[in-house]
Amino acid sequence: MTDPTTRIPVIAIDGPSASGKGTVAALVAKALGFHYLDSGAIYRTLAYAALRRGVPLDDEAALTRLANSLDLRFDASEVYLDGIAVGDAIRSEEAGRAASRIATLPGLRTALLALQRAFRRPPGLVTDGRDMGSVVFPDAQVKVFLIASVEERAKRRHKQLIEKGLDANLPRILQDLRERDARDTARTAAPLQRTADAKLLDTTGMTIDEAVQTVLRWYGDSQS
Ligand code: DC
Repeated sequence: MTDPTTRIPVIAIDGPSASGKGTVAALVAKALGFHYLDSGAIYRTLAYAALRRGVPLDDEAALTRLANSLDLRFDASEVYLDGIAVGDAIRSEEAGRAASRIATLPGLRTALLALQRAFRRPPGLVTDGRDMGSVVFPDAQVKVFLIASVEERAKRRHKQLIEKGLDANLPRILQDLRERDARDTARTAAPLQRTADAKLLDTTGMTIDEAVQTVLRWYGDSQS
C-alpha cells in the first residue's frame, strides 16, 4: 500500500551551516502556506539538552534515549524544550558545535527520522538541513542544494549573532564553519552531499528574495 503522506509535497533544502537555507526555507514556506521544519534545530536542541544534563556527546545509547524522551515543540519561530523557550540558547556557537558532533552518530539519526517525517502534513512542507533530500524525504518534489562561500557565510552568521546580542568573533566563526563543514561532509552517516536530483543554488552575492523566488519557480516548474 502506498503511504498517503508521500502525496504531500515536500521542498527539501540542504546545505552547509549558515548558508541562509533556513531563512530561504521559512520564506518559501510562508509564500506557499506550507509547514516549515528546521531540522538543525532538532539536532541543536538535543545537543543543548545533552550539555545541560551532562550527557557525553559521544554516548550514542544515552543520546538516543534522550532523543526518544525529548519534549520538543515548535511554535511559530520558537523552539520549546520541556515547555521552556530555547530558541536563542540553541543558536549559540557552542550548541552548534555540539550538534555537529552528535549528528555523526548513525543510531541517533535513525531515532530522529520519525520525528522529522511527522512534520509532513497537508498542504505541504518546506524543510532545511543536511540530509532532507537524501535520507529523510528522498521523494521530495523539489530538492535544493543551497550554498554560499565560507567567507560570506561567516559574515552572515556574525551579523546574525551580533543582532541577537550574542557573543561573536569573526575569525573564530570562520574557523568553526570550516571545521563544521569538514565534519558534516566527511561523516559516514548521512553526510552533507548534493544528490544527483538536487538543484544547485549558489547564494553568494544573491539577495534573500532572489533565492526565495528561484526556489518558488522551481516548485512551480515541478507542478507542470
Ligand atoms: O543547520 P544547523 O547549522 O542549525 O545544524 C546544526 C548541526 O546539526 C549541523 O552542524 C549538522 C547537524 N544537522 C544534521 O546533521 N542533519 C540535519 N538534517 C540538520 C542538521
